[in-house]
Amino acid sequence: MKKSMALICAAVITLAGCSEADVTPNSEQSGNDSQFITPTDPGDNTGDKSSEPTDENITVSADEPLVINDDITCKEGNEIRIEKGGTLTLGGDLDLSGDLYVEGKLIIEEDATISGPGILHVVNSFDDIDCKGTVTAKIDAPEPVEVDGVTYVGGVLLVNKEYSLPREFGTDIGDIRPELKQAIEQMRADTGFGMTLRASSGYRSYATQEWWFNYYCETDGYENAITYSALPGHSEHQSGYAADITRTELDYADTEEGKWLAANCYKYGCIIRYPADKVDITGYIYEPWHIRYLGKSTAKLVHDSGLCLEEFLEVD
Ligand code: DAL
Ligand code: ZN
Repeated sequence: MKKSMALICAAVITLAGCSEADVTPNSEQSGNDSQFITPTDPGDNTGDKSSEPTDENITVSADEPLVINDDITCKEGNEIRIEKGGTLTLGGDLDLSGDLYVEGKLIIEEDATISGPGILHVVNSFDDIDCKGTVTAKIDAPEPVEVDGVTYVGGVLLVNKEYSLPREFGTDIGDIRPELKQAIEQMRADTGFGMTLRASSGYRSYATQEWWFNYYCETDGYENAITYSALPGHSEHQSGYAADITRTELDYADTEEGKWLAANCYKYGCIIRYPADKVDITGYIYEPWHIRYLGKSTAKLVHDSGLCLEEFLEVD
């Protein structure tokens, strides 16, 4: 839904060529291509300073927060750039045909949306986005970086058939991460404890994964084992950010609990890591029981994208 389209410019933002002195209303230039910005400091975001756009690039500078509560358009060829230290809060809809670069903090409020053919570029970390709204525009992830043998994409630890963890990784923790544990407990609590929703398998060391993989190879053959069991060093369970919930059988997806988990786990910061329609990409069979903790904002972004983690992070 588009509201009235006009520009309100405040000193706290840098609209090139735009200053307090030249932000007078101009009805001739307001229209569907204009932007409506309700910025300013927290005490002055009432949106009653109207103006035509004098420039369509927006830079949110360090220590100069910008709040936009109305709908805006970023046209093709234009950009919104949140610099390091800057914060942009969106309370309305952003129609994105250009580029949005996030180096600072982007807060997408509930009911706010970012849609359109433009691209939201995550420059450093997905933690720079606090998404309570919905993003359907394409998100461009940063390049993978390796730290002590562990690969991260935008701060998201990545382990799959291509990317592995060092043998000793996780041994100091020896359990699932507290944030995942809390997410599972909260899910159970929110269902009124009417569902099992327990981690039937959580952290697995390299050695434990090795034992299981060898066991599956011996009992089921390598070709089958590799479709549902990770090679040692390649299991998300070793990261502490993954857990199998309740029962590791395919018909779990058809149970009331399995359906609830699939529909709701993103609200608790988790995703179903190996979806039924992404087997060719993840390399694993559908695992309706295997959840991966990403944090609420990133899990929502992945969920709303309809992509599996490899697609979302733009890796193999
Ligand atoms: N079942 C998953 C792929 C694992 O072994 O980590
Ligand atoms: Zn699992």
